[in-house]
Amino acid sequence: MKRILITGAFGQIGTELTAALCERHGGDAVVATGRHLPQDAASGDGPGAVERLDVIDAAAVADVVHRYEIGAIYHLAAILSARGERDPETTWQINMGGLRNVLNAARQISGCRVFWPSSIAAFGPETPRECTPQDTVMRPTTMYGISKVAGELLGDYYFHHYGVDVRGIRYPGVISSGSPPGGGTTDYAVDMFYAALTKGGYTAFVREDCVLPMVYMPDCIAASLKLMDADLPALSHHNGYNIASMSFSAGELAEEIKKHVPGFVCEYAPDERQSIADSWPRSIDDAIARRDWGWQPQYDLAGMTVHMLNELRRRQEAGSL
Ligand SMILES: NC(=O)c1ccc[n+]([C@@H]2O[C@H](COP(=O)([O-])OP(=O)(O)OC[C@H]3O[C@@H](n4cnc5c(N)ncnc54)[C@H](O)[C@@H]3O)[C@@H](O)[C@H]2O)c1
Repeated sequence: MKRILITGAFGQIGTELTAALCERHGGDAVVATGRHLPQDAASGDGPGAVERLDVIDAAAVADVVHRYEIGAIYHLAAILSARGERDPETTWQINMGGLRNVLNAARQISGCRVFWPSSIAAFGPETPRECTPQDTVMRPTTMYGISKVAGELLGDYYFHHYGVDVRGIRYPGVISSGSPPGGGTTDYAVDMFYAALTKGGYTAFVREDCVLPMVYMPDCIAASLKLMDADLPALSHHNGYNIASMSFSAGELAEEIKKHVPGFVCEYAPDERQSIADSWPRSIDDAIARRDWGWQPQYDLAGMTVHMLNELRRRQEAGSL
């Protein structure tokens, strides 16, 4: 049986993508890996196999791919933007070295499809910030962003030279109620929800008028699966499809939350992450993804806020928040 490998499976997106893949294909078809394994990693009706895997270990990546007869890889292991600026050297090693090891392992398996997410961080201050086009200036100023542009190019190289079917999306900031975010510049949008319910107040690390593109996790997962399902001839791009869902300022998010959590107070104390946010787009043109593989988000700011708060309140009642 051909199985699906997930790297970085216990991070913010990996946790929910792993669950979605298990539901779709059955747990036995899914191999979830991470550098660190949570205590409940192998519990319930989750993945059939759980392994510790550091993606910068090329031999270990190749071994897992062969041992489990992997037919598709979702490569999520990475260091994100804000954390990446604190240790650019390690960020380069993990983000680029890990991707190269995954692509080299995939290259050995006929027909192995690879999903690798890029980010809006691949853009930079010289990119048009409103309705950022699919193909435009890409001169990011963070090591994370540099690794995403280089990764998009590397993926294209492996597609054209070695026939590896690598596909990817430039995710906006991902908002989710499941596992917490892992050190990105858009983390404040998730943190604000948690703080609203647990503390009644929050201090955002960006300005009130800071606008960034975001996507809600169910749409992020649906997009990733839909792109992997698409027929190859329909794809005009391989890595780095723009997707858009919603764009809002930190202040607009706070106002939306306040409608459902009366008395919620948000303050703003921008730190070094503000300058990263200032170098990213405010809104995204995703016409090519809509045309090529039918991308269509379900959630807007109002719908996402209601759903997030319901999910978090459910966890709060169950004592897991
Ligand atoms: N979350 C977002 O808002 C967002 C936005 C744009 C792009 N992305 C991209 O999506 C992917 C997943 O992001 P996420 O939000 O789940 O991040 P995360 O930080 O929550 O999860 C990443 C996981 O990778 C693991 N990891 C780090 N180094 C590793 C290594 N050497 N070997 C194996 N595992 C390692 C971490 O332990 C973590 O569990 C990344 O490529 C990220 O750049 C995320």
